[in-house]
Amino acid sequence: MRAYDIIQKKRDGHVVDEAELKFLIDGLKDGAVSDYQLTAFVMAVFFRGMNDSEVVALTNVMLTSGIVVDLSDVPGVKVDKHSTGGVGDKISLPLAPAVAACGVAVPMISGRGLGHTGGTLDKLESIPGFRVDLSLDDYRRLVKENGCCLIGQTKEVAPADKKLYALRDVTATVDCIPLIASSIMSKKMAEGIDALVLDVKVGSGAFMKTLDDARVLAKTMIGIGNEMGKKVVALLTDMDQPLGNTVGNALEVIEAVEMLRGKAPADYTELTLALTAEMLVLGGKAPDVAAAR
Ligand code: URA
Repeated sequence: MRAYDIIQKKRDGHVVDEAELKFLIDGLKDGAVSDYQLTAFVMAVFFRGMNDSEVVALTNVMLTSGIVVDLSDVPGVKVDKHSTGGVGDKISLPLAPAVAACGVAVPMISGRGLGHTGGTLDKLESIPGFRVDLSLDDYRRLVKENGCCLIGQTKEVAPADKKLYALRDVTATVDCIPLIASSIMSKKMAEGIDALVLDVKVGSGAFMKTLDDARVLAKTMIGIGNEMGKKVVALLTDMDQPLGNTVGNALEVIEAVEMLRGKAPADYTELTLALTAEMLVLGGKAPDVAAAR
């Protein structure tokens, strides 16, 4: 196998298989494939796209480049929520403990701010002394003890995604639905979850500017999750204006605490409830969304 031939295949609009994707991704690690070859391939994907089987294969190659956490000793259905990124989106902060309090375990590996969007880890770190760089052993232990745990992507979780993302970031190839979907899902599938609720943001403050693109991204991620044996639900939610009244890490933590006291703005409260309800249904704690609310 040669990187040249795989790049040419994708450049000419053909379908590549999992073995070829694995060759490229593993080759980057052992030096058989160079950064410039992988970025040429990614640019070809940017223009040619990927079909469903290619997206699943790429996700799998990135997922298996690292550890897939085993949470089988934590009882019940484990459910996470992931947002594709917005402004003022501080939903994970009240959502994870609220869902855990209802008896559904929430193992959450969160991200940093990306582009203009904020990151849950950065918000949490505005709490003095809060540590997000826990080991996977601590993560497993805390999910079991507390029913929820939020940590950052460790070096063992989908390391190939980390490397590929860094290359995409400097080659104008972040903005590509198959690459976004496989990147997000390679990390989520490593968490040890059984089910996932996706908050796919759409609007001027989101990465997906149109409903059509948001729908394609949502369907692509649902397809990947289902193919990997997980239940996945997606909500398409408005990001034409910031969520809630605050933007900025410490301010958003304060607003998240207000949420837990039942005093948060209506849009933030409504979306938190909607996502929480979906998680409780997936977690088997309620027969439907109305009962879960
Ligand atoms: N978030 C990710 O984790 N990866 C992407 O490619 C885009 C958003």
